Amino acid sequence: MGTVRLWHVSAGGRPALVLGPLAVDPACRELGIGAALMNQALAAARARGHAAVILLGDAPYYTRFGFTAQKTGELSLPGSFERDRLLALEFTEGALDGAWGMIVPTGKSLPKARAVRAVKAPLAVPHAA
Ligand SMILES: CC(C)(COP(=O)(O)OP(=O)(O)OC[C@H]1O[C@@H](n2cnc3c(N)ncnc32)[C@H](O)[C@@H]1OP(=O)(O)O)[C@@H](O)C(=O)NCCC(=O)NCCS
Repeated sequence: MGTVRLWHVSAGGRPALVLGPLAVDPACRELGIGAALMNQALAAARARGHAAVILLGDAPYYTRFGFTAQKTGELSLPGSFERDRLLALEFTEGALDGAWGMIVPTGKSLPKARAVRAVKAPLAVPHAA
């Protein structure tokens, strides 16, 4: 019915999470599922000790969860984006104070499916002459 994702990032050198995408099946909207996903994701982030969450989205939706553009004015994303949609929520006060620069992913990459298959495939052992 819906999905939300959190990514480890560096926000101008500050460790943070980026939230997104958040999406709810059009047939299931306006039932509180988006809010439930947001509240669950934010609670999980806070419980794991993350200091701040950043996202690119509609301020009229995300202000209800505490997101503002107050601390993102000096942060950038690769490619073009609308600055007033770059929002943040601090769990630790001041976590994004003075944050300046590019937001880049820092999480570990999962191995590609092909690489996993290759690892699982039996090794070819040459016969002894
Ligand atoms: C945004 C989205 C996740 C909300 O999911 P949802 O399950 O319908 O949300 P909820 O039921 O928790 O909340 C509904 C409320 O959010 C409001 N809302 C939904 N989208 C909004 C938006 N883009 N801007 C402002 N308010 C919005 C609704 O008007 C409703 O307001 P109300 O509580 O005053 O009636 C869903 O509409 C969606 O998947 N949209 C397409 C993808 C998207 O836009 N994602 C992120 C937003 S940038």
